[in-house]
Amino acid sequence: MTLLAWDDSMSIGVKEIDEQHQRLFQLANDVAATLARGFDKEAVGRDLRALCDYAVDHFAAEEALMDLDVDGYPEYDQHVSEHMQCTTKALDFLGAFAEDKAVDMNEFLQFVTLWIRDHIQRMDQTLATFLRGRIPAA
Ligand SMILES: [Fe+2]
Repeated sequence: MTLLAWDDSMSIGVKEIDEQHQRLFQLANDVAATLARGFDKEAVGRDLRALCDYAVDHFAAEEALMDLDVDGYPEYDQHVSEHMQCTTKALDFLGAFAEDKAVDMNEFLQFVTLWIRDHIQRMDQTLATFLRGRIPAA
């Protein structure tokens, strides 16, 4: 099952970040594919953890690129705030899942799908415009 399909509209033209976004798509799709094979808590939990871990690393990588500019990235606070909101929601979900609390997996996957698409096409595109000329483009 494919939740997130990559196409050129998702590219922000910064090779390092585009590659990380493609990996995020793959990890989200892995969760959906594992679920589609039937509910296996251990396997689903492993995929969710991989997605969350990678997202946290990816957010840190983007924030490090923002920090490269001595004048500072003007949208830094807003961008980091979105990363934190997403991280909090994902870790809360993962924690509830691990503790066998009632969770709505479909709602979470819908959140992930919409969040990634919206964030890339808005916040990350703005970041890419800022980074263009500062780091090698794709
Ligand atoms: Fe971002």
